[in-house]
Amino acid sequence: MSEDGAATPLLDVEDLQIEIITATGVVRAVDGVSFRVDRGETVTIIGESGSGKSTTAMGVLRLLPDDTVVSGRVRLSGVDVVADASAAARLRGHAVALVPQDPMTALSPVHTVERQMGDAIKVAGGTSNRAERRARALELLEAVRIPNPAEKLRCYPHQFSGGQLQRVLIAIALAGDPRLLVADEPTSALDVTVQAGILDLLMELQERTGVGILMITHDLGVARLVSDRIHVMSGGRFVESGAAAQVVDEPREEYTRNLLAAVPRLGEFDDRGTAGERAGRVAGGGSGVDAGGAARGGSAESTENTERAGSAR
Ligand SMILES: Nc1ncnc2c1ncn2[C@@H]1O[C@H](COP(=O)(O)OP(=O)(O)O)[C@@H](O)[C@H]1O
Ligand SMILES: [Mg+2]
Repeated sequence: MSEDGAATPLLDVEDLQIEIITATGVVRAVDGVSFRVDRGETVTIIGESGSGKSTTAMGVLRLLPDDTVVSGRVRLSGVDVVADASAAARLRGHAVALVPQDPMTALSPVHTVERQMGDAIKVAGGTSNRAERRARALELLEAVRIPNPAEKLRCYPHQFSGGQLQRVLIAIALAGDPRLLVADEPTSALDVTVQAGILDLLMELQERTGVGILMITHDLGVARLVSDRIHVMSGGRFVESGAAAQVVDEPREEYTRNLLAAVPRLGEFDDRGTAGERAGRVAGGGSGVDAGGAARGGSAESTENTERAGSAR
């Protein structure tokens, strides 16, 4: 049960199987997948809708309905949360935290951002002192480059653009200083320019803190920009796994080639890579995703303006 050993992966999944009980029978949504995420790494699961990506992510977090049947091994910082589901509840926030898919619906519309961040900080074991929680919330909003954080704390979710809300959700995920972030389609609901800013932020956070990222996406453009390793999922299984450059540039499987053929190339791929280099690739790749300059390392204010401009709000 070592939690901090340098060699202990942040996430180690072996032969994970997940069966969902539905009205019409049992669906084996995940059918024997194995993968790991180490410190400072971004590992991506990519696949089309219904392939089992979210079920895998939620299974890792043990956030599936109680009647779901989970087998295999999922070790979070060395602790098997399949053998002991209650361990997952203790580890969420610290060993692992979720960045949810839809920023527009993930927060309560009736409470301020301060209240919702304060709750997350409390749950993450933070202080029960309100002023200290506020200071921590400000620090977290600064970490995700939200401009005018003191003012923003008083706002309600509807007063934020989609991109800004996703930053708030990342800030909430960071409340317990997690070692691993599970990001389920964190940019799918956002415009491409805003998307680039969020990916840039995640890479910057990784560079700074060494946080591991399990990225879930159906978008190969996203996967190739941020990943160290990619697992291609179809029908609950991994059909191809490898270093990001190999999977993107020399796919072995027909399924992966079809997936590649379906998306435009978003800029040159550089297979070497620290998170910083990957962040640079996201921010300055001269690519389609960068058209609005959202991630070009500009001021927080320009990020905000771009994200507002890019939002439907
Ligand atoms: N709550 C559920 N009830 C019934 N079927 C589900 C449920 N959640 C997921 N599934 C099924 O499990 C499979 C994988 O779904 P999911 O993990 O959400 O895929 P993805 O995230 O890759 O789009 C799909 O066939 C889906 O229909
Ligand atoms: Mg999904």
